[in-house]
Amino acid sequence: MNICIIGAGYVGLTTAAVLAELGHEVHCIDHDEWKIRLLNNGEVPFYEPGLEELIAKNDNYLTFSGRWDDIKRAAVVVICVGTPPRPDGGTDLRYIEAVLDRLATTIKSYKTIVTKSTVPPGTNEWMRAELIRKGVKPQLFRIVSNPEFLREGSAVYDMFHPDKIVVGLEPDDDQSLAVMQAVYAGINAPYLTTSLTGAELIKYAANAFLATKISFINEMARICDAFAVDVNDIARGIGLDPRIGPHFLRAGLGYGGSCFPKDIKALEHAARSRQVEPHLLKAVQTINATQLDVCFQKLNEQLAPLTDKKIAVLGISFKPNTDDTRFSPAEALIRRLSENGCTVAAYDPKATLSEPLTRVTQVQSVHEAIQGADGLVIATDWDEFRTLDWGQVKAAMNGTLVFDGRNCLDRHAVEQSGLRYMGVGRP
Ligand code: UDX
Ligand code: UDX
Repeated sequence: MNICIIGAGYVGLTTAAVLAELGHEVHCIDHDEWKIRLLNNGEVPFYEPGLEELIAKNDNYLTFSGRWDDIKRAAVVVICVGTPPRPDGGTDLRYIEAVLDRLATTIKSYKTIVTKSTVPPGTNEWMRAELIRKGVKPQLFRIVSNPEFLREGSAVYDMFHPDKIVVGLEPDDDQSLAVMQAVYAGINAPYLTTSLTGAELIKYAANAFLATKISFINEMARICDAFAVDVNDIARGIGLDPRIGPHFLRAGLGYGGSCFPKDIKALEHAARSRQVEPHLLKAVQTINATQLDVCFQKLNEQLAPLTDKKIAVLGISFKPNTDDTRFSPAEALIRRLSENGCTVAAYDPKATLSEPLTRVTQVQSVHEAIQGADGLVIATDWDEFRTLDWGQVKAAMNGTLVFDGRNCLDRHAVEQSGLRYMGVGRP
């Protein structure tokens, strides 16, 4: 098929590369000229494992441009533009609106328009009405809501191995499911069909539930601290129950990234817009927002006075295997340490601090970060931090405290080297 992807971000680029690998002719459009130039030079504007290689492998089937005319020949148009949060917690749909304006002047033949950007409930119905209001004949298009569930750091794998393909359809649409099955031909996953708004809400509910698991285990970690029990034992214990499952039960600094924080706020906002009081969603956000305070307090108790203490922080990205620092708990902790007079040496395999911070230096290796450090913090659970030579770490540090802010280390290996291990809910 001839497919057009609008928006070359994490979701747009991964979708473009995977659909090209499936044999489609894919045209990816983005209004960011710098990004398009980079992509046409064979580079990807962010770190995502395997994506650059997949794009290079399929460059015969893949084009990158700012050319909206490419839409004319496309049978399917996939919208992957940003839907950033508004200050009131709602979702800023200006980029979606900009795309609709363009589509309204471009559509001359039948199109299946697929929304992959995460949009609030009711948006796809509004988009259909807007296109008709802007003059597009109703018989010239169908709107499909097809939210993505890929994770940064494993986006390519997740798109080739989805646990489901959610297809939201207009009430009387009996043709677009077949179009979506043709788009994803070669990918083996169950299809779930529902209404446009049903699909939008599945996306939000999925992220909200995962974030709820994280806030639940972070609250359990606080209770475990009070009862001197290791929260990892709790997570393992309850995770054996298939009704609960072992995933997303790792206590730590809390969740971040471009999706969870914004999507939960957006779902809360949507609930309130219909006079539904989102008690649980509020609690999930409150626990997450105060998790950094809990962790900072633990550090302060161990290293006070923090002023002039030298802290090595390993991890800046919001999670491993990505260079994305959007809403990163690691970066928030670095900022908090800086605000409290600490000197911080921060290291991350891929990510860069998104802003300069007082007394904070980004260094190029773990070795550099730990020199003379009074304390060491694991802020992002990159694999390379799990297997450090703790004897060497002890020799290089001035102090002995290792704060495992992601509960990812083998505490015995740390303690055997003579270092003091402190986790989150691991007294
Ligand atoms: C996006 C949405 O933000 C998220 O809600 C959804 O879940 C998936 O898609 P992401 O891919 O991470 O997430 O967004 P981002 O990295 O910001 O990429 C959006 C791209 O769209 C950017 O490259 C931007 O330049 C482009 N864009 C935006 C356009 O090409 N045209 C526009 O009018 C607006
Ligand atoms: C998430 C969803 O997983 C994905 O399905 C959706 O499409 C987009 O949002 P992503 O934002 O890439 O993906 O990150 P994810 O792996 O879900 O982690 C989110 C945050 O939760 C990270 O900050 C991570 O460190 C944290 N986390 C995750 C925990 O604190 N504990 C856990 O057990 C798991």
